[in-house]
Amino acid sequence: MLAQPEPTRSGRSAPTILHVDSSITGEQSITRQLSAAIVNRLLAVLPNARVERLDLTLQPVDHLSHEVIAARQLDGVKPQQRVIEAMAADAAILEQFLAAELIVIGAPMYNFGVPSSLKAWLDRLAVAGKTFRYTEAGPAGLAGDKRVFIGSARGNVYDAHRVLTLDHQERYLQAFFGFLGITDPLFFRAEGTGIGPDHRRHALEHALASITELNL
Ligand SMILES: Cc1cc2nc3c(=O)[nH]c(=O)nc-3n(C[C@H](O)[C@H](O)[C@H](O)COP(=O)(O)O)c2cc1C
Repeated sequence: MLAQPEPTRSGRSAPTILHVDSSITGEQSITRQLSAAIVNRLLAVLPNARVERLDLTLQPVDHLSHEVIAARQLDGVKPQQRVIEAMAADAAILEQFLAAELIVIGAPMYNFGVPSSLKAWLDRLAVAGKTFRYTEAGPAGLAGDKRVFIGSARGNVYDAHRVLTLDHQERYLQAFFGFLGITDPLFFRAEGTGIGPDHRRHALEHALASITELNL
């Protein structure tokens, strides 16, 4: 049974869900299936929620650039038009993130980390004074009122007895969002998807089944 719809941590009863995907495998993608299932589950609990969609394969985010970083540090000097536009695009990405209470991310493992498209997006979210600040007592996250849900998939199995140290995907996401103050991202994981078709199917079914139990 679903829990009663409850106000989110921000106290609003009609929250925004930001649904982000990064897999390049299209309809075959496991993480896209997982992120879609998470969004559907959240909508079942919070039927008034509004969904914002960001597909990083269709709306790619550029690498961080020297021009933009330099322009931020130059007071009183008007940047070139293309730099102004890049800064505005960065600000819009951050605003979209800040405006959402619930963040759902499809995040496959690529070469032990996250897809570079996802990394480029995350690079726009870690902004001093907006999502974190440094203090004498250490860094303080400023985005702790959000919830993050991650549909994760990887071809291999990563556990303590095998190659956990090679996991720079989930462990990176955990560290990144923890730095922003979101210390409890929830992972729904399909693992060993490259071992074979049966393993892939079971891993997907297992992850989808755990999503049906998700409550806020
Ligand atoms: C470019 C690329 C790199 C990959 N690198 C890894 C890797 O380092 N370790 C791993 O376990 N699986 C790796 N895989 C396998 C994917 O993590 C796996 O197929 C996963 O199911 C992909 O998610 P998706 O189905 O949503 O695309 C890689 C796949 C691709 C396409």
